[in-house]
Formats: sequence, structure tokens, C-alpha cells
Amino acid sequence: MTPVPDDVPNNIDRKNIPRHVACVMDGNGRWASARNLPRTDGHAAGEEAIVDAVDGALALGIRYLTLFAFSTENWRRPADEVRFLMNFNENLLVRRRDEFAAKGVRMEFAGRRDWRVPRKVLRRMEETERLTKSQNTLTLTLAFNYGGRAEIADAVKAIVEDGVSASKIDERLIARYLYHPEIPDPDLVVRTSGEQRISNFLLWEAAYAEYVFPEVLWPDFRRHDLYDAVLEYQSRQRRYGGLNP
Ligand code: IPE
Ligand code: IPE
Ligand code: MG
Repeated sequence: MTPVPDDVPNNIDRKNIPRHVACVMDGNGRWASARNLPRTDGHAAGEEAIVDAVDGALALGIRYLTLFAFSTENWRRPADEVRFLMNFNENLLVRRRDEFAAKGVRMEFAGRRDWRVPRKVLRRMEETERLTKSQNTLTLTLAFNYGGRAEIADAVKAIVEDGVSASKIDERLIARYLYHPEIPDPDLVVRTSGEQRISNFLLWEAAYAEYVFPEVLWPDFRRHDLYDAVLEYQSRQRRYGGLNP
């Protein structure tokens, strides 16, 4: 196994690490514009941040890391940028999956695998899932062609197709029809670039997540930013609607 960094700050409570952290990787375009570069250079620069965030998650002992890579609304972007993102994400899998697998990272995808996603990208996703499925230190889920409302609509459709009777429908049943029922709900959602909105990310799953909104643009995000987010998480009191003991 490839060693992971050993630089977690002492003030992080190792007994209170979020099990599942989800990130909205935002700010690539602004990062590029600030440097007079095309927006797509910002996406490319985000790769280093992904690799470092994975290292940080491994160092902390986080079990699930979900990264929002492409939303069901991102098809509204110019065709050139969409094409770039499709190719970039496909190539990223090829470039990084062996290195991730060597660190114990299993890779999965959440989102609609519909006709809009090029066939070669779909094939690469399936291949990547197959090649990394025996890893179990960290599950890295890329939310790709993902929308929270689409996920819920897909669940409702499948429930109806299965002929489930209305009396059987409750929150647990709905959760079982989501894309990854086996993955626990995120404890912490990090959205970079200072934007404070959900943008259709994990609407159902993040009902009781803690949110942090660091100003850093995604291409500049490094594991110390993840450590900071976890520290912030540890300062929160999660009450789930109840009262503190
Ligand atoms: C996030 O960066 C990446 C994707 C949405 C694919 P953006 O491309 O949204 O960057 P900004 O928000 O325009 O800076
Ligand atoms: C959310 O970011 C989607 C991803 C990071 C993949 P956007 O940049 O697309 O969200 P909005 O448009 O600012 O809400
Ligand atoms: Mg954005």
C-alpha cells in the first residue's frame, strides 16, 4: 500500500472524525479567470486538489468521500466546456485509479447514466468500479451527471415500477431506492469558493449534515483545508432536532 501523509494537526479529535464528507468542488472557473486562463484550465488544475483531498481523507480515517464533479444542470454550459469536462473526467479515471487503488481507495459513481453521458465515459466508469471494488479503506464517490432532485425522481420511478403499495412507503424505503443506499449520509458538506448554496447536491442524504463554506477556490484546495473543515465540524453540536444532553 502507498503510504499516506501523516500531518493531521494534534487539535483534531481522532474520535470524532466525520464518517462521510461530501464536497462541492466549486470555483474552478474563477480560479482560471483570475489568471487570464480559459475556464477549462481551472478544471484541469482541480485534479491536484482531488488527489490531495483524498490523501487528507485517508490521513484522517474518513471512510467515505463524495465529490461533486458534474451536475445535471451543468449541461447548460457551453458545449466546449461540457465536452472538456467529459473527456477530462474520463482521463482522470485512467490517470488516477491505479494510484488510488494502491492507497486502498474504492471508486464509485453517483448520478444518471443516461444517453447524455458519452458511451466511452460510461465504460470507463464501469471499468473503474470493477478495478477498485476490492479496496475498502476509503470509498470515493464521484457525483457525475448527478442531481439531488433527479435522484429522488429516479427513486420514485423505481418504487412505482416495483409496484410498492402506498402503505409501505416511508423514509427508510425511499432511502433504499437512492443511488447508494449502502453509503451512510454525509456528516459534513464542504463547498469551496465561498458560494453558500446546495446547487442540488445530496438533497435527501444531507438533511442533517453540517455545512462549511471555505473561501478557497477548488484548484487551491489542499488537505489542510480539509483538516480545517473537520475542525470546524468538531466545534458544532449536532442535535437532530432534539436537545443537548
Ligand atoms: C466547479 O467550478 C466545477 C464544475 C461545476 C464542473 P465552476 O466551473 O463552477 O467554477 P466557477 O463557479 O465558475 O468559478
Ligand atoms: C455545483 O457547482 C456543481 C459542481 C460543483 C459539479 P455549480 O458551479 O454548477 O453551481 P451553481 O451554478 O453556482 O449553483
Ligand atoms: Mg461554480
